[in-house]
Amino acid sequence: MKAKVVILTDLHFSKSANQAIPERKGEFADILLLRAVHRLNRYIKPDLVFIGGDLLDHPEDADRLELLSELKNIIDLIQTPTIIINGNHDPARDIFESVIGEQPDFLDINGIRFVPFFDPEKPGYNAFRIDDELARMRKLGAEFDGPLVSLQHVPLFPPESAACPYNYTNADEIVKIMHEKNYVLALSGHYHKGFALLDYKKRNYITGRALCEKPFGYAVIEIDDKGKVNCEQENLAMPEELRLVDHHVHTKLAYCNENMDITKSIALGKMFDLDGIVVSEHSAHLYFNRENYGQCLQYLEGMASNKKDDRIAEYFALYANEADDFCRLGMEVDYDQNGQGVIEPAVWNNVEFRNGSVHVLKSLTENPDMKAVEAEFLFLTEAVAASGVDVLVHPFRIFRRRGLALPSHLFATVVDILKPYDTAVEINYHTNEPPPEFFRMCIENGIKLSLGSDAHNLYEVGEFYAHLKFLQKIAPDFDLHDLLIS
Ligand SMILES: [Fe+2]
Ligand SMILES: [Fe+2]
Ligand SMILES: [Fe+2]
Repeated sequence: MKAKVVILTDLHFSKSANQAIPERKGEFADILLLRAVHRLNRYIKPDLVFIGGDLLDHPEDADRLELLSELKNIIDLIQTPTIIINGNHDPARDIFESVIGEQPDFLDINGIRFVPFFDPEKPGYNAFRIDDELARMRKLGAEFDGPLVSLQHVPLFPPESAACPYNYTNADEIVKIMHEKNYVLALSGHYHKGFALLDYKKRNYITGRALCEKPFGYAVIEIDDKGKVNCEQENLAMPEELRLVDHHVHTKLAYCNENMDITKSIALGKMFDLDGIVVSEHSAHLYFNRENYGQCLQYLEGMASNKKDDRIAEYFALYANEADDFCRLGMEVDYDQNGQGVIEPAVWNNVEFRNGSVHVLKSLTENPDMKAVEAEFLFLTEAVAASGVDVLVHPFRIFRRRGLALPSHLFATVVDILKPYDTAVEINYHTNEPPPEFFRMCIENGIKLSLGSDAHNLYEVGEFYAHLKFLQKIAPDFDLHDLLIS
C-alpha cells in the first residue's frame, strides 16, 4: 500500500501586490491555487492534499476572513481528503478554523498516519512544539502500527543537517520522537525556497516550495507502508527553455468565459514562463448576440444573416488597450453550414493569427445517422483548412462532447485533408482528450502542432502540463521545436 500526498503551501493571498517583495505573487494566489487544484484532480490524483500554511499575506487585514473564505471555496473543489494548517501569516487557529473548517487530529490513509501540528511561533521565524503536543505525537505513534508523518508549517529537521535557516527551537526533542515512534517523514512549508527530500539517519524531511513564487512549485510525495519515501518536485510554470506559446486564449467577450482579462492573461503567461500568448475570440460571439448565437444563426445563416450584432470593434479596442508585445491578436473562426467563415475579409486580414473550429453539425440530431454526421464533419473540416487558417483547433472534439465514439477510421482522411493546405492541428485539453493515434499520424505526415489552452478561466492560461506529457508519450524522440508551429 502507498499513499500519494501533495503539499501546496505558502499562498500569501492578498488583494494587492506586495511592493516590498515583488517576487511574491500573492495577488494571484487564488488563480494559482485553482490551477493546482484542477491539475491535481484531473491528472495527479493524490490520496491527500496537505496545505501547509500562510494562506494569507497579511493576517491582520480587515478582509482576512473574506480572503480565507475565497480560498476555502477553491479548496472545497479538491476531490481527495485535505489537511490544512495555519502559518505565521494566518490568523490564530480558532479564527482560521472558523472559516477553513475544524481540522482532524490525524488522518489514516492507505496504512499511513498523517498528524498535523499547530505549533506556536518563536523569534526569528522559528517554532516550538509544546509538551502537550509532544505527548500527543508520542501517543498517536504508540497506538498505530504503520509509518507516521508529522505535518507542520515551519520546517522541522535535525539541526545538524542545516537544511534551512528556520527550524524548531526544540527540534532535537521532536526528531527523537520521530525515531522512537516510526514517524518516517516531517513535511513542512514556510521556507519559500523549500528543500528537496533530505534522507537523514533513516528519517525523511521535506519542505515544500512556496506556491506563490516562481516557478510556483509543489511536491508530489509517495510513502509506502514500509516507510519508504519518494518525492518529485513539479511546477505550475512551464519549462522556460521550451519558450512555449499559448495560441488559444479567450477574452471577456466570450459568452462562455468565466473571469477572462487580457491584462491578467499576459501577466500569467509571463509568470508561467511562456514566450507569448494569442488572444483568440470566437468569431460567432463577436457577430451575434447571445440569443441569436444560442439559436445557431452563425451556422444556419452565417454572414448573410440580417440579425448580426457586431462587437468586432470592441474586440479590437480591447486588444489595443490591454495588449503588449507579449500578446498577439487572433481569432477562432466559426463556419456556417455552407463552409463559409463567419468573418469579414477585412477582419480576417487584420488579425495576426487564425484558429478555425467545427462547433456545430446540423446532422448531429438526437438519433444521428452517423454516415451523414461523418460526411458533414469532413466537409466542414475541409472548409476550415481551405479557408487558410493557421490551425484547426480541437480536432474531433465535437464527437467527444456529444458522447459519441471517436471515428478513428477518419483520422487518415483528416490528415489527407490538412496536409495540402499546410494547416496545423491543436492539442487541446479543454473539455477534451486529444486522440494519440491521430496526432501520431499528423507527426508522421509532417503536420505541425499548436498548443492551445482554450482558456475560458485565467487558471488555464498556459497550462500545458498534460500537453507536454502527451508529446513525451507520442513523440519521445522528437525535438519539440520541430513539431510545434513557430
Ligand atoms: Fe510562514
Ligand atoms: Fe472552440
Ligand atoms: Fe476556443
